[in-house]
Amino acid sequence: MEKREKILGQRHAYLYPTKVPYYREPIHLVKAKGSYVWDDQGNKYLDVIGGIVSISVGHNHPRIKEKMKQMVESDAIQHTTYLYLSEYMADFAEKISEVAPGSLDKVYMTNSGSEANEMAVMTARTSTGNQMVISLRHGYHGGTNVPLSLCGHGTWKFDSQPQTAVAHANAPYCYRCPWGKERESCNLECADDVQDVIDTATSGKIAAFICEPILGVGGFIDAPVGYHKKVYDIVKKAGGLYISDEVQTGAGRTGKNFFAIDDSGVEPDIISMAKGIGNGAPVGAVVTKTEHANALKGKLHFNTFGGDPYQAMQAAEVIDIIKDEKLIENADKMGSYLKEGFAALQRDFPLIGDIRGRGLLMGLELVKDPKTKEPAVEETAKLMETAKEQNILIGKGGLLGNVVRLAPSLAITQEECDELLKGLRKAFENL
Ligand SMILES: Cc1ncc(COP(=O)(O)O)c(C=O)c1O
Repeated sequence: MEKREKILGQRHAYLYPTKVPYYREPIHLVKAKGSYVWDDQGNKYLDVIGGIVSISVGHNHPRIKEKMKQMVESDAIQHTTYLYLSEYMADFAEKISEVAPGSLDKVYMTNSGSEANEMAVMTARTSTGNQMVISLRHGYHGGTNVPLSLCGHGTWKFDSQPQTAVAHANAPYCYRCPWGKERESCNLECADDVQDVIDTATSGKIAAFICEPILGVGGFIDAPVGYHKKVYDIVKKAGGLYISDEVQTGAGRTGKNFFAIDDSGVEPDIISMAKGIGNGAPVGAVVTKTEHANALKGKLHFNTFGGDPYQAMQAAEVIDIIKDEKLIENADKMGSYLKEGFAALQRDFPLIGDIRGRGLLMGLELVKDPKTKEPAVEETAKLMETAKEQNILIGKGGLLGNVVRLAPSLAITQEECDELLKGLRKAFENL
């Protein structure tokens, strides 16, 4: 207990106050394996949020551990940069271009999703010569300058934050459709809104449209079928590039393709990624078409740690593990299994207003009343606690924080899914 108190004191004394921990009694995690993590008291938890959607192939995967061990024991180069040759960096870039859709084959490695999105937008602006970027309300793209401009959540924006050449379209948020439509009556008004924003808030020419195939921080909002295709055509007409932010949805999480935008049959111009691609290692990347990467030719652009040996090795290994262990197929199978389980929970707990997501990226939007859809904000915060009492670590999101976010390891087993469903049922009962 003493250590925990010390860490809390240190956080209070030395960390920015923006770093707010989960839980009334924050947990000190010290150990992890597969789908599980342990705290300093020896309590074992089923980890269904994996950092924040960062654990893809499972905590401390034996293949990654082995490679790290080999590197340490052979005194492999611990740090090098783009200025020298590195097999780790080159392998990672090649593997990304192999799993990327269509002709996306030029990679820029970063240390985070925010940095990847900075690079994605800079690439689009340089390649098109246009400045304006359209992003979505309820979208989240990171905490640095450009991503905060792209951000569609007031909670993450600062009064002094400059909004640089960004306009926001309405989110494809079917459960709370801004046009009051139901799935059956939907005419993709949300896609038309992108055109409306281009017509009213830009010169008619844009650099890019950026969106997450499923809006993560926004509460796992999954656009209606046909949305991405329709928006793609609108974006192309305005001279823009289509950026798919796959920081949460990439690395096979949606259970169909390596990148979720492929599920919609759209070939984007740029994909940004991080989180699951490194299975928790601080690595991100952008992949784009040669013509867009070439637009930056003649200038230098450098980052010290992008593609660092240990990070690049881990990311390359993650790609291989996902293939070898058929984790995309598992995400699909376990995702469907869990969805059925959540539907059974919903029948017993009307607090669950909406179940959404794909593969192993699933959200439960909690509402006080399924008719009024009043967001159940306090109940969601309480559910985090009652789930923790059942040794289940879940996440939350949504503009108001009333969406339970579930994104376990892609290697989760059926037994672990049963454990999750059983624990969640108890957690709802104990609310
Ligand atoms: C969709 C999306 N893009 C970008 C980011 C930013 O990534 P990072 O926190 O690694 O900078 C996040 C982080 O949550 C995210 O969810």
